[in-house]
Amino acid sequence: MEFIHTLPRCLLAQCRRPSTTLSPVYLDFLAPTAVRAQRRYASTAGTSGPAKPRYTLSKKQREFLESALRVNQAGELAATLIYTAQTPQVVRSHPHLRPLMKHMYDQEAGHLKIFNQLVAKHAVRPTAMYPIWEVAASFLGWSTAALGREAAMACTEAVETEIGSHYNDQVREILSWEADAERRGEELDDELKEMLSTFRRIRDEELEHLDHAVANDSKEAKPYDPLVDVIRLGCRTAIKISERV
Ligand SMILES: [Fe+2]
Ligand SMILES: [Fe+2]
Repeated sequence: MEFIHTLPRCLLAQCRRPSTTLSPVYLDFLAPTAVRAQRRYASTAGTSGPAKPRYTLSKKQREFLESALRVNQAGELAATLIYTAQTPQVVRSHPHLRPLMKHMYDQEAGHLKIFNQLVAKHAVRPTAMYPIWEVAASFLGWSTAALGREAAMACTEAVETEIGSHYNDQVREILSWEADAERRGEELDDELKEMLSTFRRIRDEELEHLDHAVANDSKEAKPYDPLVDVIRLGCRTAIKISERV
């Protein structure tokens, strides 16, 4: 499948399916069948030919999406704060990195805007850990940049490895729904298709950040292994907590 070609082998080996034991959801494009039938009638009235029936998501699938949007919003907030905290220190000692830091920040700000809109639109509860992640992300950005350019880049490498893998799990999950819909002669809701496309694009941009970090000597950070391992563990823990809390 398409996404396999865009992921480093190390990420593919680590892909895991997120947990899906969560609270009720309010995603409007996942509304009950009766509401969906009305919407379908309204949207197809006046058009020629029957529309394919829409694929109805199970409760577990709806919970997966709510969890995904909550985690993604928190992750993108953290990413913007990491770059905000890193940029002044990195740019002061390495002015040539200003355009790269701005480019990565701008992409993260764009991601955050998207998830803020999706979370608000579908009335998904943001993580209760939001204030904690704000402090933790700012500290992570500041402290790694204080260690030097290589450590700042190692932070990006670690974070994007986990986040890229996380987005890939989400893409893989929704693709499995799409395949299931096709087998039934149905199709995904247009908004869900658009969400899949958005997740793919953002995943690719996160992996681009990972490539930038490696190209800018993330592997030269000292001590590389403990630093990257701790940050990756922190990311995985934050993801797991934000899925539920
Ligand atoms: Fe991002
Ligand atoms: Fe990123």
